[in-house]
Amino acid sequence: MDPIANPYAPGAGTPPPELAGRDELREQVRVAIERVRRGMPSKSILMVGLRGVGKTVLLDRMRDDAEAAGIHTLRVEAPEGRSLPALLAPELRVALLRISRIEQAKALGERALRALAGFAKALKLKFKDIEVGLDFEPEPGLADNGDLEHDLAALLQTVGEAAQRAGTALVLFIDELQYVKEDELAALITGLHRTAQRKLPVTLVGAGLPQLRGRMGRAKSYAERLFDFPEIAELPPPAARQALVKPALDQGVAITEDALERILLETHRYPYFLQEWGKHAWQAAERSPITLEDVERASAIAVAALDASFFRVRFDRLTPAEKKYLRAMAELGPGPHRSGDVAETLGRKVTALAPTRNQLIAKGMIFSPSHGDTAFTVPLFDEFIRRIMPGDDWRE
Ligand SMILES: Nc1ncnc2c1ncn2[C@@H]1O[C@H](COP(=O)(O)OP(=O)(O)O)[C@@H](O)[C@H]1O
Ligand SMILES: [Mg+2]
Repeated sequence: MDPIANPYAPGAGTPPPELAGRDELREQVRVAIERVRRGMPSKSILMVGLRGVGKTVLLDRMRDDAEAAGIHTLRVEAPEGRSLPALLAPELRVALLRISRIEQAKALGERALRALAGFAKALKLKFKDIEVGLDFEPEPGLADNGDLEHDLAALLQTVGEAAQRAGTALVLFIDELQYVKEDELAALITGLHRTAQRKLPVTLVGAGLPQLRGRMGRAKSYAERLFDFPEIAELPPPAARQALVKPALDQGVAITEDALERILLETHRYPYFLQEWGKHAWQAAERSPITLEDVERASAIAVAALDASFFRVRFDRLTPAEKKYLRAMAELGPGPHRSGDVAETLGRKVTALAPTRNQLIAKGMIFSPSHGDTAFTVPLFDEFIRRIMPGDDWRE
């Protein structure tokens, strides 16, 4: 069928034609943000889940929802190896300049910009990557201690005071939070704790891989009380169907029942895979409806497309030792696996493999769902590894 009309959208962070099955969570976040704006107690929300389940697109949609309701937002993605203050400072500046334009919040907005100036100057020595334009001179003693935890709390407090006066809230949307260092996470938690205690309208909506929850708890033991950690996972069957059927129907195209069943089976209802299968089934079909035969022809191409993109980008960043570790995990199946079993598969000691395992966790490839267990952060990754490293060569 017409490739130009193909509605499906596989890709990291690519908005789907139909954001299926997430309405309840969107509503939960909307309520949490409105409560924060009114100074009511509310928890920050951190969505956790494997790669490709739709955290990023959901975060973006929630941000659009918030902006449409007159909430001020900022949006950052934590990359590996950049500091959180460096990421936040320029975005906070933009948000504060906007808030300062609201007449009744002008003075407090400018004070927050002074706090930001003090914050950036004082931390520049420690976080050399902070680059932010300074609109006002710092106010001595305001967020300029040089200690991240102290200064971020003071800064977020001034931000909250300005947002409160403006009758709005400032919501920080942060993606890939698992890459933020633990002491920087601790500072963020302390800052949000401060604004919550003072009923100031600042909150966080974040997303990250499953290890995020444990990192938050280690950074601050009281994190569990300040945050909700909704799990984002594969879609329930009715939502997975809707994700496929609705975009096709909007183009006047139907999908037969057995074709639909097959796609749900092959994709395990993971959003990224649903988009990939939808795209290739559409391409395989001559006309409406998309049939089981079309899906059967599409499957091999969909797998190859995933191997070349979704799986591959992560695999290429690994050292030979890391690849070998993952191959041994894959040998054992989808997981989770005991670290001892992985070591045994490789004929090595658990302690000897610990640095490799830690590196893989830091790179976001695996996580530890419970002590001593190891699991992939990408669904169906075991099958990919077995396809790309077939045979027994890796055992040497
Ligand atoms: N609720 C959903 N319904 C249908 N497709 C979705 C949904 N959520 C995400 N997708 C699709 O899944 C893919 C991965 O989404 P993304 O947000 O990048 O996942 P993550 O951030 O969890 O790795 C994208 O192609 C997106 O269009
Ligand atoms: Mg993402």
